[in-house]
Amino acid sequence: MSVRQDTIFQQFLLPLFGNVLVDQEALKQFKHSINWEEESTRLTNPCVSYPDYYHSQNFHGIKGGYLNSEAPVSYDPITQYVLPPTEPIVRQGLIDRIRVKPRRILDLGCGTGSTTLRLKQAFPEAEVIGVDLSPYMLVVAELKAKKAGLKIQFHHANAEETGFPDASFDLVSASLLFHETPPDVAQTITQESFRLLQAGGEMIVLDGNQQTLRQTEWLTEIFEEPYIKAYAAASLNAWMTQAGFAQVQTDDWWWVHQISQGIKPIVKNTSTSTRSQTQVSYNKPEIDSSAGRPAPA
Ligand SMILES: C[S@@+](CC[C@H](N)C(=O)[O-])C[C@H]1O[C@@H](n2cnc3c(N)ncnc32)[C@H](O)[C@@H]1O
Repeated sequence: MSVRQDTIFQQFLLPLFGNVLVDQEALKQFKHSINWEEESTRLTNPCVSYPDYYHSQNFHGIKGGYLNSEAPVSYDPITQYVLPPTEPIVRQGLIDRIRVKPRRILDLGCGTGSTTLRLKQAFPEAEVIGVDLSPYMLVVAELKAKKAGLKIQFHHANAEETGFPDASFDLVSASLLFHETPPDVAQTITQESFRLLQAGGEMIVLDGNQQTLRQTEWLTEIFEEPYIKAYAAASLNAWMTQAGFAQVQTDDWWWVHQISQGIKPIVKNTSTSTRSQTQVSYNKPEIDSSAGRPAPA
């Protein structure tokens, strides 16, 4: 797929971010304060190979997508302007809807760690791990966690195949990841999330509102997002249900965002004298009864 030069992003927003909204001098200083080659090499897992969809595309006008230092340097300064009403409100929406009290959290496609840090702040006792395909994004995520005094592990991994053992987490999250992946990849990531969760664990996803995006085509044109139309045409609810999740729901969040969540059912084996029965239970004792507010760890 070739890169379009006529998007609203290319024509209007990129120059605006480049000249008005973002302090270019501060960005330059930040960029030069890091030895990118050394740091990205330190974080690179040589076993990771990049899927075609990932390295063949530009995202948000950045050539080479996320596999260079331009991406993490510009990501946070731009993202603060593109999540209405405000970035903190939008991200906090995911945290506030978490229904379980997690002890091990995995944040998929964690990028520069903006949501990962909030997860650790909300659940300070939990072990929190962020994974991303870009070692460059992870460099900034690590720096931010260190600066905030938060102990978070960051791993270079593909969310489609993370390499973590089955049932090793009780919360898997993804923010702003799925609109950047082709639908078959999003489905694989949802299945991987199901595998990684223990029974009763929760998957929660913050992303663009698929219904709004379907009805408002110009929104899909704003940013240079190669897979957003396919994402809009699909349904996170359906992906999660097909993967095996129960209690699946998607709520609108400030019109342009949505938060989807589902619970991995608990399968109970009840043996009777005549036959063995399998029951699927959708209730988990550790589910937080005060759902809608941040749960203490
Ligand atoms: C729009 S950013 C979102 C970052 C962060 N979660 C946030 O909320 O700001 C998308 C991130 O997903 C990562 N990504 C895309 N495909 C991935 C995959 N298959 N596995 C892991 N990370 C992936 C990109 O490298 C990028 O950092």
